[in-house]
Amino acid sequence: PALLQQPAGLLGFDAIPINRFDTVTVPAGYRTQVFLPWGTPLTADAPAYRADASHSAADQAKQMGMHHDGMHFFPIDLKKGGQSSDEGLLVMNHEYVDPNILHAFGGKGIPRDHEEVHKELAAHGVSVAHIKKQADGTWQLLQDSTLNRRITGHTPMELTGPVRGHAKVVTKYSPDGTRTRGTLNNCAHGVTPWGTYLTCEENWALLFVNHQQPMPREHRRYSIADEHSILHWETAGRSDDAISRFNATPFADKASDDYRNEPNNFGWIVEIDPFNPKSTPVKHTAMGRFAHEGLIFAKPESGKPLVAYSGDDARFEYIYKYVSAKPYDPATAGPHLLDEGTLYVARFNEDGSGDWLPLKIEDADFQAKAKAAGHVFDSQADVLLNTRLAADIMGATKMDRPEWGAVHPITNEVYFTLTNNSRRHSPDAANPRANNHSGHIIRWREGTSQRFDWDIFLLSGDAYTYTPAHNAMLTEQNHHASPDGLWFDPNGLLWIQTDMSGAQMRSGPFGNNAMLAADVNTHTIKRFLVGPVDCEVTGVVMTPDCKTMFVNIQHPGEGSGPYSFSSTWPDRRTNRPRSATVIITKEDGGIIGS
Ligand code: FEO
Ligand code: CA
Ligand code: CA
Ligand code: CA
Repeated sequence: PALLQQPAGLLGFDAIPINRFDTVTVPAGYRTQVFLPWGTPLTADAPAYRADASHSAADQAKQMGMHHDGMHFFPIDLKKGGQSSDEGLLVMNHEYVDPNILHAFGGKGIPRDHEEVHKELAAHGVSVAHIKKQADGTWQLLQDSTLNRRITGHTPMELTGPVRGHAKVVTKYSPDGTRTRGTLNNCAHGVTPWGTYLTCEENWALLFVNHQQPMPREHRRYSIADEHSILHWETAGRSDDAISRFNATPFADKASDDYRNEPNNFGWIVEIDPFNPKSTPVKHTAMGRFAHEGLIFAKPESGKPLVAYSGDDARFEYIYKYVSAKPYDPATAGPHLLDEGTLYVARFNEDGSGDWLPLKIEDADFQAKAKAAGHVFDSQADVLLNTRLAADIMGATKMDRPEWGAVHPITNEVYFTLTNNSRRHSPDAANPRANNHSGHIIRWREGTSQRFDWDIFLLSGDAYTYTPAHNAMLTEQNHHASPDGLWFDPNGLLWIQTDMSGAQMRSGPFGNNAMLAADVNTHTIKRFLVGPVDCEVTGVVMTPDCKTMFVNIQHPGEGSGPYSFSSTWPDRRTNRPRSATVIITKEDGGIIGS
């Protein structure tokens, strides 16, 4: 597709200074609308939001979930070939829950309250919201639409791809290993060429405990806890297996009698058809099991395999590429393309070249290296269940926390954020800073025979300390740290969102988390948005005409409460903070970023 407008015509706005205000700041000439905050009634029968957070779990399952993350706008007429910019489905993840905000007075303590845990499961997942632009230019939720849908930690899902039916995904709920419940801790997202939404299971491992020693490799390598899970769900009672399944310790004679394999049903890419509210979400297993942060497609080309990238967001984890076995054909493209293919992991060589290393049980090199390292896999399903181990075996490059990726709409160059890694002691060419507090953005261009060429687009940080060549572009108008969200708009502008920790925001010169816009040709970068106190800015998309932008503000007031909060955005007074979408338009009706 042609660019709507050359980047040269963009970045006309005045960069905004950093700030620590408890509000969303955008450049002069732009306006904002807070939209669909946590707790907003979503389905037709949902109860109104109550500011004291006294909702039940059943209420929460009909309201917007907590902690908005990756997001996409599907034009309502997409299936008819349309590109509506006035009406569509806004689909987003709800990454995690903060009990201090979710419950009226915080959590009741340990052992966890049964109803509270159900509410926490219901606040996770995905929302599909049917929205429409009004005559006055604001947007509204069409609450009566049958397309509105919540997917939660309870929603039944199907497993597909090589792992479907494997012994290691058999549970009491699914003795044949084909079904599971819920999607949890979903970060970033993907959009398929056939118009479905992908949500990506990231920090699911935190929600499980396994007291078994030694812990199986498919749990240990993902850092499942051996004492208690992060939210102590396992203490809420053995009688309800919607909750007790988060304790993966074997309790019975065989796997089909307990939930020892429940964690193996997480760590996948989940596909949702937003236009079919009755559809069962599908967990695709061919793209590997790890802390998935998004799935980003290269531009699909008819007759060639479909290619997609995914980062594993943990310190010293990897970047992966999936290549479909069958060629892409727009007439027949569909979920099957995500079930049969090859998963590769990236090695960034010191000379600026790179190699995609296959994680494939039939591959002779993989077999030899696995044997040499003393690891045995019974099938490709077993390789995929243990994706991190397979990548270790192949000698992939350990990265500084890969988060979002973005593919340039014209050049097909791939950009990836590496958010930070304060534990890096030995820099390498692709992760060039020890004690990398600020993060960086790497990029590559695909070559032939699974080779690529890479360089570093940007070393993030402040404008005073970092002065190497890459950072000549850093000034007070754009300096930032911990890049996370990343998206190329149809005009070729690169939007960079930050996720600094609370401590980093309090101590650094960067202000609150922010969003910047970059012209990658000229290396011009400008700060476009600053979020409220203790939020992260994550999730960004526009309507096809590029005149409405949706940005997610996640976890304002993080780490505070339950009786007083560091942020009261967006409701003000003494209210609890709420994650929400912000809709941005230009007062003159122009293109966002111009
Ligand atoms: Fe949930 Fe890696 O961000
Ligand atoms: Ca993220
Ligand atoms: Ca992050
Ligand atoms: Ca966060």
